[in-house]
Amino acid sequence: VKALNVELAERRYPVYVGQRLLPAAGAILSRIGFKSAPVVITNRKVLRLHGRAFLDSLRKSFGRVPVLCIGDGEKYKNHATLLKIYDGMFRAHADRSSWILAFGGGVVGDIAGFAAATFMRGIPFVMAPTTLLAQVDSSIGGKVAIDVAQGKNLIGSFHQPAAVLSDTEALATLPKRELAAGLYEVVKCGAIRSEALLSYLERHLARIMDCRQDALAHIVMQSARIKADVVAHDEREAGLRMILNYGHTVGHALEAATGYRKFKHGEAVGWGMIAAAGFGRELGLLRPDEAARLSALIRRIGRLPSLDGISLDRIWDAIARDKKFQSGGIRMIFLPGLGQAEIRTGIDPVSLKRFLQEFLELKGNLKN
Ligand SMILES: NC(=O)c1ccc[n+]([C@@H]2O[C@H](COP(=O)([O-])OP(=O)(O)OC[C@H]3O[C@@H](n4cnc5c(N)ncnc54)[C@H](O)[C@@H]3O)[C@@H](O)[C@H]2O)c1
Repeated sequence: VKALNVELAERRYPVYVGQRLLPAAGAILSRIGFKSAPVVITNRKVLRLHGRAFLDSLRKSFGRVPVLCIGDGEKYKNHATLLKIYDGMFRAHADRSSWILAFGGGVVGDIAGFAAATFMRGIPFVMAPTTLLAQVDSSIGGKVAIDVAQGKNLIGSFHQPAAVLSDTEALATLPKRELAAGLYEVVKCGAIRSEALLSYLERHLARIMDCRQDALAHIVMQSARIKADVVAHDEREAGLRMILNYGHTVGHALEAATGYRKFKHGEAVGWGMIAAAGFGRELGLLRPDEAARLSALIRRIGRLPSLDGISLDRIWDAIARDKKFQSGGIRMIFLPGLGQAEIRTGIDPVSLKRFLQEFLELKGNLKN
């Protein structure tokens, strides 16, 4: 088991990465100071696949452990589920001294974290993320939220967990598409901060897709470290943290243009990074061989859902609505080289639109 500390202005918390962490959860959490039982928030699928040893371990350390199951999927990350969580907590006699343990993917983490941020004006919470995306991305950084009719993640807060337990063995039961969706975020971490991580992915992709534990632990640790480092410098997203949005201008637009049904978020970011690399190359900001290398790695991970039938107008509407579109031009993240990122403002919308038109015509292939 490896541990890393997320260092923030006011406090720090540990992120544990490795095997057999779920069956040791009770011991680990009591060692870091928890004395009473948590309220576990999860869903039935995760509970069935990985709940038994996890709950046994918690019960051994804390006695009776209330478990609240929410519906599975993004469509349950809403206020109705949130109210059910509060209600379940009151029924379990939770109070100001209680704490929440979020056990599942990013949906569980986001909503359980928001419940923790707001229940009795805020109680501690711990994350036990069970998807690759949650281990490398959503469990780090303290953003918690729910979706509303007006958009995703529009009601939320910053609430840092007290600890994160990322058991890489849990990833063995993930469908390949979910694993791939998380891997695009790992590629993003490498692209903006670590050429070494990109080259590790290139060398070990097959072993990662096979869920070899040493390889998973390596990429989870490296990505968590990168995200933690960026967040530590910019907890509330005033500047640097924006580089985590590499590939997201086009990625978000693709998701919005297809009603959030066609692409998993990570897949949209995969396309978004290919587009950003191609556009960066066109602007003379990224070397052609580096753009090609990044796009080849992304394509090796799996088959991205096709761009067929997606209209430029819809993508453009979404980009124009996005907060990154300012009066003086568009704000985008570019890579001056693989492993480095910079925020650029004032990007000419006309050239981006022209690039995207061609990108769609070439079905996401970059020009030679
Ligand atoms: N807070 C942040 O900073 C942040 C960052 C990125 C994404 N997010 C949020 O994360 C969410 C997406 O997270 P996600 O991709 O983990 O989706 P998810 O939570 O919906 O999980 C994907 C699917 O995998 C299942 N699952 C979970 N663990 C499993 C396991 N070990 N084996 C088999 N199946 C398992 C889930 O039940 C679900 O069906 C979105 O709501 C997004 O907004 C938040």
